[in-house]
Amino acid sequence: MTQTIAILGAGRVGSSLARVAVASGYKVNVAGSGSADKIALTAEILMPGATPMTVAQAVKDAEIVILAVPLHKYTEIDPQLLAGRIVIDTMNHWRPTNGAMDELDNDPRSTSEIIAEHFTGSRLVKTLNHIGYHEIEQDAVREAGKPRRALAYASDDAKAGATVAGMLENFGFDPVSLGTLSHGRILEPGQEAFGVWFSKPELEKLAREQISTAASH
Ligand SMILES: NC(=O)c1ccc[n+]([C@@H]2O[C@H](COP(=O)([O-])OP(=O)(O)OC[C@H]3O[C@@H](n4cnc5c(N)ncnc54)[C@H](OP(=O)(O)O)[C@@H]3O)[C@@H](O)[C@H]2O)c1
Repeated sequence: MTQTIAILGAGRVGSSLARVAVASGYKVNVAGSGSADKIALTAEILMPGATPMTVAQAVKDAEIVILAVPLHKYTEIDPQLLAGRIVIDTMNHWRPTNGAMDELDNDPRSTSEIIAEHFTGSRLVKTLNHIGYHEIEQDAVREAGKPRRALAYASDDAKAGATVAGMLENFGFDPVSLGTLSHGRILEPGQEAFGVWFSKPELEKLAREQISTAASH
């Protein structure tokens, strides 16, 4: 099992994921845009068990790095720090927050394929985009035998995808592989899977239909 997860972004998604990761037995490093001191109180109150750090410190011993910063801030993160690491892209192009982003708006690819060009050398996996921050703890089910929400992931690196699938499972979700990063569009705002509770068979069926429709165009 992966031991250490670095979460970059100590906001709504970052703090929800930190709590679930701590509850699932991971060592959690969390960072905001500044010093560890700046998020120390937030971490103590909202993420007990997670350790506040700078971005550079947080990623140092992490097997998985979760990007939970606003999408328009992704270029602030130094790709060299993340080279060789499994990096989860939770980020959505959320216009009220991010505004227009020309490099995304004029490109038909999934936002993660574009972001992957910045994080060259990282093993990028797109997931956690289609669940609201407030549902992350609410829908995580770690008890055996209870229905679980399915969360899909997409990656061009099958091994990285499998590691992340294991993490999602430990968090209390049923992972569903979409295949390559290009299929990650299925997880983006405005798509049918966005913000909806699906079981694994339901999400697999939806993904199969959407992938085959996309392939026929
Ligand atoms: N909200 C949702 O339900 C939801 C669901 C799925 C996916 N997402 C995606 O998840 C991401 C985070 O959303 P959110 O709602 O959690 O946002 P948020 O509450 O605004 O939190 C964003 C966090 O990112 C930090 N940050 C900004 N620039 C940074 C940098 N350069 N390095 C490290 N940390 C930095 C901010 O810290 P400072 O205060 O120090 O700037 C803040 O802690 C977004 O991309 C969003 O699209 C959101």
